[in-house]
Amino acid sequence: MIVFEAFIIIFLLVLIFWLGSHLYSTIFYVPYVNASNQAIRDALKLGELEKDQLFLDLGSGRGDALIIANKEFFAKAIGYEISPLPYLLSKIRVFLSGDRSIDILRKDFRQAKSEIKNADLIYLYLFEKVLKKNERFLFDNLSAKGKIVTLAFKFPNRKPIKIKATKNLGIETKIYLYQKQTLDKM
Ligand SMILES: C[S@@+](CC[C@H](N)C(=O)[O-])C[C@H]1O[C@@H](n2cnc3c(N)ncnc32)[C@H](O)[C@@H]1O
Repeated sequence: MIVFEAFIIIFLLVLIFWLGSHLYSTIFYVPYVNASNQAIRDALKLGELEKDQLFLDLGSGRGDALIIANKEFFAKAIGYEISPLPYLLSKIRVFLSGDRSIDILRKDFRQAKSEIKNADLIYLYLFEKVLKKNERFLFDNLSAKGKIVTLAFKFPNRKPIKIKATKNLGIETKIYLYQKQTLDKM
């Protein structure tokens, strides 16, 4: 009986943590949805990510893009993830994958100024309103050689230098590539 009660209590605690984490990122940031691996691969290819380059995923979810960047493109990868559940999942997945050149911080990516300045490629799978809110911050800090790829959503005030079609979560969509010198639309 005690074992059964303990099981119910653990189950409820996990459920509350799971729901709380989803509500937190949905209300204050962006809901946690992980992109398809193929869409991530297409994005990193469009960004021409190379060995030993610095890759950033701002809003890194459960770490899929970080693991692909490290395992398939041999890049150093850093993720910023604000929501506790995907952050925890990503830490466990990275630990199990044995990748040691992946770093994940449970912080708002607006604290990633120095990483953004040093990044070769930044990957973003964030709603357009979030891209709009952070557009100036990201491009002000991006270096001349740095690139940004966005999946499914684009910056409202910039013209991408390249666009590539892909499939994400079974839906046809696009990936957009930007650089610092990308001209403002306006
Ligand atoms: C749509 S998911 C993308 C997950 C992953 N990058 C992928 O492509 O599979 C967006 C993630 O960004 C996180 N996020 C949104 N705003 C953030 C912020 N300001 N700082 C850190 N993480 C943020 C959310 O918690 C969520 O997990």
